[in-house]
Amino acid sequence: MADDRIITALDVHSLEDMEHLVTLLGDSISFYKVGMELFYSVGPDAVRYLKSQGKHVFLDLKLHDIPNTVGQSLRALTRLGADLMTIHSCGGRDMMAAAAAAVADEAAKLNIKRPRLLAVTILTSIDETAWQEIGGKCNISDTVRGLAKMAKEAGIDGTVSSPYEAREIRAMNGSDFLIVTPGIRPSFAVANDQKRFTTPAQALTDGASHLVIGRPITQAADPVEAVRKITAEIRDIHY
Ligand code: C5P
Repeated sequence: MADDRIITALDVHSLEDMEHLVTLLGDSISFYKVGMELFYSVGPDAVRYLKSQGKHVFLDLKLHDIPNTVGQSLRALTRLGADLMTIHSCGGRDMMAAAAAAVADEAAKLNIKRPRLLAVTILTSIDETAWQEIGGKCNISDTVRGLAKMAKEAGIDGTVSSPYEAREIRAMNGSDFLIVTPGIRPSFAVANDQKRFTTPAQALTDGASHLVIGRPITQAADPVEAVRKITAEIRDIHY
């Protein structure tokens, strides 16, 4: 049985490449991330295909616009059948509240399970210098904390976070809050371009609820064996 805490990133550009991976991984993976690369390449069919295969979909499009536009866009993505979606918390409290309300309302109209919404706090590619340059007033970690707190208050279900932020957000926002962390490298994998990464077991121990893992699975010589090893690494870890 697949471990629902592992979300495999489908960073490919065609339906054929996506279907190849999903077929190859079979029952070993139940949850997939469709990000901007795949969505802008093939469109909604990426989500429709995954749903037709009975998979959960993390549609990571990181919406950032005025409240009404984000709300209406999330309604459309809810109708597509995404299970998890992302917005930028820097869109502000009203935008996050509008997003949460729109998704809940659309799901109720369709009589489907409400998709969960995650907020990006500050992109991990932003360092202190870049943060000051775009007008940041206090340091990044204080800002991340403030944004994660505001996200919860606005009705958002979780954050996409660096594994290094998981412990603090978990302590602050409680046990039901979702914390989805990329930047994961199983003990057997190479780092690729990830600079600050941690193992699946460590991220879960620190409070992550889900792990986004791409290349260690998708570019492994034997992807199914890679998933088996990761699943074994985390089997006994529960926050
Ligand atoms: O292949 P890899 O495991 O590095 O893929 C991780 C996924 O998470 C990719 O889709 C990547 O874009 C995304 N991501 C990340 N680091 C962040 C935010 C997102 O690796 N800080």
